[in-house]
Amino acid sequence: MEYKLALIGFGNVARSLAKLFLRKEEALKAQGITFSFTGISTGRHGFAVNPAGLDIRKALELVESGQSINSLTTYHSPITNSLDVINHSAADVMFENSPVNTQTGQPALDHIRAALNLGMHAITANKGPVVHGYRELTALAKSKGRQFKFESTVMGGAPIFSVFRQTFPLAELSSIMGIFNATTNIILSRMEEGESYEDAVKYCQSIGVAETDPTNDVDGWDAAIKVAALVTVLMDTPITPQQVNPTGIRGVTSEMIAQAKAEGKRYKLVCAAEKVDGKVTASVAPQLVDASSPLYGMMNSSTGITLRTDVILDYSITLSEKPGMKGGPVETAYGLFADFVTAAQ
Ligand code: HSE
Repeated sequence: MEYKLALIGFGNVARSLAKLFLRKEEALKAQGITFSFTGISTGRHGFAVNPAGLDIRKALELVESGQSINSLTTYHSPITNSLDVINHSAADVMFENSPVNTQTGQPALDHIRAALNLGMHAITANKGPVVHGYRELTALAKSKGRQFKFESTVMGGAPIFSVFRQTFPLAELSSIMGIFNATTNIILSRMEEGESYEDAVKYCQSIGVAETDPTNDVDGWDAAIKVAALVTVLMDTPITPQQVNPTGIRGVTSEMIAQAKAEGKRYKLVCAAEKVDGKVTASVAPQLVDASSPLYGMMNSSTGITLRTDVILDYSITLSEKPGMKGGPVETAYGLFADFVTAAQ
C-alpha cells in the first residue's frame, strides 16, 4: 500500500525522519509499503502541499540552506498554517513534531485532533498532547479505526511504551524510576569534571540536546512531562507536569558536586513515580546517589528507566552514552518510524 505522509514540524527530528524514510525505502518496499510526502509545515520556512507527492529531497535542501519551501506547493488555494497542510495534504499519516508546550499541549493537540478526524494515523514525538490529551486522542483514534502513537516521547526512539504494553500482559506497574533528561545529566557530569554550569549549558545547546528553551531542561520541566506521559499512559492515571511539580538542578552548585564526589557520590536528576492503592505520587528532583544505585554509572547523555511491576520486579532499559553525540535526532526519528511501520502493519 502507498502511504501519503504529512510532516507537521520540520526541525532536526522530522528532517531525520524524512532521511530515514529515504534510507529505508527498499526495506519498506519489501514489506509492501511505499510512501510519498504530501504536506510539510515548518516553523520558519513556510508550508508545502502537493497531494500527488512533493520532492522531499528538494524540501530538505531548501530548509537546510535556510530557504522557504512555499514554492513546492501545487495546491490551488493558499496554504498558510499547519491546519491547512493537514486539511489539504490528503495524507494517510500525520507526524506531529511542533515544539513542546508543557502547559497546554497546544497547538499539537489540535493538529492531532484534525488529523484523526480526517482518518489519518497520528504519530508524535511531542509530549504535550500525550499528557494533555491521551485518553481523548486514543478514544478518537479508536473511533476512526486509526492509531495515535508516541513512542519517541520518552528516551528518544528506545521502546518503552510498546515494550510495556505489548510484552507485559496484565502486569500492574507499581513504580518507575530513572533519568529521563539528557541535558541535565550532561551538565551534572561536566560540572563533576570541573566545568562551570554556564559553560555546560552552552555545550548542551551547541550539540542540540537542550530544548529550544533550556530552562525546560534545567528546571525539570522536560523530565516532569516525561514522567507525566509515562504515568498517564502506563499507570492509566492522567497527571500533568504541573502536578509533578519538578525541582531542577539550578540549586546544585559546583561546591556541592565536588563535596559529593569526595564522598563517592553524585547528584542525579531523579525521575520517579509510584502507584500505591490506586494513588499516584510522582517527582523530579536532584538526589545524591552512590555506587549502589543503578543511576550512579549513567553519565553524560545516557538515560535509563526501571519499571517495577507486581510480577517482574525490576526491569531496566538503558540508553548508553553516545560519545560526541549530536542530540540523538536519529534515534527519536527511529521511534516515529517504528510507530509508522507498526501502524502500517
Ligand atoms: N532536551 C531533552 C533532553 C531532549 O535533554 O533529554 C530529548 O527529549
